[in-house]
Amino acid sequence: MANSIRVVETISELRAAVKQARASGLEIGFVPTMGALHEGHGRLVEVAAAECGFVVVSIFVNPTQFGPNEDFARYPRTPEHDQAVCAQAGAKLIFQPSVAEMYPAGQLSTFVEVPSVSRRWEGEQRPTHFRGVATVVLKLFQIVGADRAYFGEKDYQQLRVIRQMVVDLNTPVQVIGVPTVREADGLALSSRNRYLNPEERQTAVALSAALKAAGRLAAVGEQDAGRIRQELHKTLESAVGVVIDYAEIVDAETLEPLDRLNPDCGARAIIAVRLPSARLIDNAPLPRPGEPA
Ligand code: PAF
Repeated sequence: MANSIRVVETISELRAAVKQARASGLEIGFVPTMGALHEGHGRLVEVAAAECGFVVVSIFVNPTQFGPNEDFARYPRTPEHDQAVCAQAGAKLIFQPSVAEMYPAGQLSTFVEVPSVSRRWEGEQRPTHFRGVATVVLKLFQIVGADRAYFGEKDYQQLRVIRQMVVDLNTPVQVIGVPTVREADGLALSSRNRYLNPEERQTAVALSAALKAAGRLAAVGEQDAGRIRQELHKTLESAVGVVIDYAEIVDAETLEPLDRLNPDCGARAIIAVRLPSARLIDNAPLPRPGEPA
């Protein structure tokens, strides 16, 4: 049975708790989330707790990162379950602000944009998404004042956006990416998986199968990114009912599409597809020749 965990809703309570933890000599770890926590979030908290004496998890379904026709209203909210996950994984405090606490004037006059790495992929599909993410994450960084912040590689473009923002704005926090947690059949854990009906849940395995197929080609020395991209598309197109938004091979740093793999820079396969009940994204690093797929 996990210990109970303290939940605070105001910025002033949060700051007082963090100040006290710091005064006791503890390092502050921070895991920003939108709740509906799953094992992937649990892993972020565990990694944070292994490295920091005081781990704060924020739970805030941030309206500014949802487009007008997206799922803000129906985004799952599971506060009791979330508290249990956080306590079990070793967090010390949950910061669960209201929308009014985070956006007291209703709207902001200041936004953070990271166009270089936001422009493509999710940025094309969801034009205001990364502005909303970068702005709320910077606000949370200012509020929590953590030493280290932990993000899942599942949202790889988001991780790149946050890393770039922190570098560009000299934000004093170390950003740590944590590998994606997957179901036994390969499906990446996501709060949105719960939207899938049983048939779609089966079909969704195509994403990780496509990434594996791409990884196998790279591991045996295929350098032609177009050829690996074809492999991604072939696997996804064989899954009934999947509409591909994108399936690409990109430079792991710039997220620009690659023509050829280059042993000097990392490459990543990235995918977004639509199923009738949910839009899913996934990604994986491509191994260098000879590395395991
Ligand atoms: O990844 C998420 O859950 C959100 O985008 C984040 C980072 C908590 C910002 O709202």
